Amino acid sequence: MGELAGKAVVLTGASQGIGKALAHALAAEGCRLVLAARDEVALEAVAGECRAHGAEAHVVRCDVGVQSDCEALIARAVERLGGLDVLVNNAGIGMIARFEDVIDLAPYERVMRVNYLSCVWSTHAALPHLKRSRGLIVAVASLAGLTGVPTRTAYAASKHAVFGFYDSLRIELMGSGVGVTIVAPDFVVSEIHRRAMDASGRPLGKSPMQEARIMGTDECAGHILRAMRRRDRLWLGSLRGRFGRLLQIVAPGVIDRIAKRAVERGV
Ligand SMILES: NC(=O)c1ccc[n+]([C@@H]2O[C@H](COP(=O)([O-])OP(=O)(O)OC[C@H]3O[C@@H](n4cnc5c(N)ncnc54)[C@H](OP(=O)(O)O)[C@@H]3O)[C@@H](O)[C@H]2O)c1
Repeated sequence: MGELAGKAVVLTGASQGIGKALAHALAAEGCRLVLAARDEVALEAVAGECRAHGAEAHVVRCDVGVQSDCEALIARAVERLGGLDVLVNNAGIGMIARFEDVIDLAPYERVMRVNYLSCVWSTHAALPHLKRSRGLIVAVASLAGLTGVPTRTAYAASKHAVFGFYDSLRIELMGSGVGVTIVAPDFVVSEIHRRAMDASGRPLGKSPMQEARIMGTDECAGHILRAMRRRDRLWLGSLRGRFGRLLQIVAPGVIDRIAKRAVERGV
């Protein structure tokens, strides 16, 4: 599938941020879309913008942290689109807190459900359809899935799980025609930082990022789209991410210091 035009795509986390920008980009490519998230009003607005590009776009309300919602999402997408070519697991949440400050550990389970188990549930439901179409699974992971990040213990663990799951599944799917593309952005301007849970599990309310100095959602969506077109195995979202992957073997302490500095400076 070098060509995305006409493909039936399910995209989670499409109501804002990277998912919204990707919905626009996929609509411009001529994809047929099922957009999922919890905020139906925001989703309808994004779907309207996609239709303005001439694309077919449907909205399904879905809490990806709930298994039955993920299964219903895939069933409804197949019904609406008549099959499935691409599953993009993009929905995600953050948590920003030092582990020793955390009082209630419930957010750790929530982050795993939304960021990781959602991928397992939706992929399991989608796989028979993707095998028929020789389709593509896209996981929006993070560079935090490849390295430790201070104050992101819950988030980084969930993204490491995403990498472990999809890197394993990719091998199982060899010869099936189904591709697995993992994208690992560096910091991107979005609501995830403001909405991230703090040590008490409440939204942080403000972003600790230097937003003027980090990647925008449209640029990030453009990279994801290119990786999808080429059915790439992996896209690493920054030079330090690519460099870090090589350096991790020979000088892991240097990577720890880069991660610490990135979090302290918010860039
Ligand atoms: N921004 C970054 O710096 C960055 C870096 C690396 C990776 N990423 C990854 O990129 C992905 C998109 O994040 P973003 O930065 O665009 O964040 P965002 O602006 O906060 O958007 C997150 C999206 O996920 C959806 N979502 C959250 N919880 C959900 C749930 N329980 N059920 C269904 N949908 C849910 C949200 O929609 P509703 O609230 O309407 O449900 C929203 O559409 C995430 O997987 C994130 O981990 C982000």
